[in-house]
Amino acid sequence: MSGSGLPALLLTGGSGQVGLALREAPPAGFQVVAPPRTELDLADAGSVRRWVGDRPWAAVVNAGAWTAVDAAETHAAEAWAANAHGPAILARATAERGLPLVQISTDYVFDGGLDRPYREDDPVGPVSVYGASKAAGEMAVAALNPRHVILRTAWVYSPWGANFLRTMLRLAETRDALSVIDDQAGCPTSALDIAAAIGAVCRRLADPAPQPAGIFHFAGAGETTWYGFAARIFERAAQAGVRAPALTPIPSADWPTPVRRPANSRLDTTHFTRTFGLSPRPWTEATDEVVDRLTGAGERQGGRA
Ligand SMILES: NC(=O)c1ccc[n+]([C@@H]2O[C@H](COP(=O)([O-])OP(=O)(O)OC[C@H]3O[C@@H](n4cnc5c(N)ncnc54)[C@H](OP(=O)(O)O)[C@@H]3O)[C@@H](O)[C@H]2O)c1
Repeated sequence: MSGSGLPALLLTGGSGQVGLALREAPPAGFQVVAPPRTELDLADAGSVRRWVGDRPWAAVVNAGAWTAVDAAETHAAEAWAANAHGPAILARATAERGLPLVQISTDYVFDGGLDRPYREDDPVGPVSVYGASKAAGEMAVAALNPRHVILRTAWVYSPWGANFLRTMLRLAETRDALSVIDDQAGCPTSALDIAAAIGAVCRRLADPAPQPAGIFHFAGAGETTWYGFAARIFERAAQAGVRAPALTPIPSADWPTPVRRPANSRLDTTHFTRTFGLSPRPWTEATDEVVDRLTGAGERQGGRA
């Protein structure tokens, strides 16, 4: 435990993309305490209650989740334990102590059929076990702790873990050509930006002023498809000398997966920006930053400066 004396945030999922981003850049004015899953398991009510009761946290941030979308179909019990029952336990435990709970959620609570970016009050309609379990987690948090902020995001990538950007850079090492889906639209979102968004939320929740509660959407500004995302990744990586594979756009039908992905994953972030005073960066800028980190371009530029 840190002895910095700063108010502390209890973080679940500290080894995941969002968790690592928060630990790398803790929100200004806070320290982040991130017990590993062996100590704080969302599926273990006793461990959750022990940690929530450990000290007067400024807030609890739940970035822990079962995120393997396809595998959730055959591991529904584990997915529901982490994504729905765990948040319910957290919500009860935090509410008993009057603590705010920031719950990270997903565009997969929607079916993707809408023809505009999703707003917070659009009806949910998950089409997968993962989406249904996350939607149930949202409902539990909202019902059990009035001091909740549910932050839905989408298409998360980072310098760590399993994500589309890292997969593309890995494939660039061995493949001359790649086919990438071009009929799903979304907002790629850097975990580094999500960490900054969580920081803005936690600062606001620490204010004595009336505190916002409810659902908020946060995602990279603008929109693209997986094909457009891949093209940007390779365009930027090429500047660092990475050989780009030839890209072919394909329809989702040509890339069958156990779970159908939403055709529309776009999130309207107006409500978040109005409430917390932070506008998401253009997805292109945030993508370039992570590509540069992974290709070492930033270091080389730094070395030349
Ligand atoms: N990835 C995306 O594209 C995406 C999109 C929209 C929303 N989100 C949401 O964003 C949040 C963070 O996602 P991410 O991409 O950072 O996830 P991630 O990289 O897959 O990491 C998941 C984290 O959750 C932890 N975890 C899993 N089961 C747990 C349990 N039972 N108890 C405690 N911790 C547990 C994992 O710990 P271990 O290391 O021990 O496994 C890991 O630290 C999640 O709520 C996710 O639903 C993600």
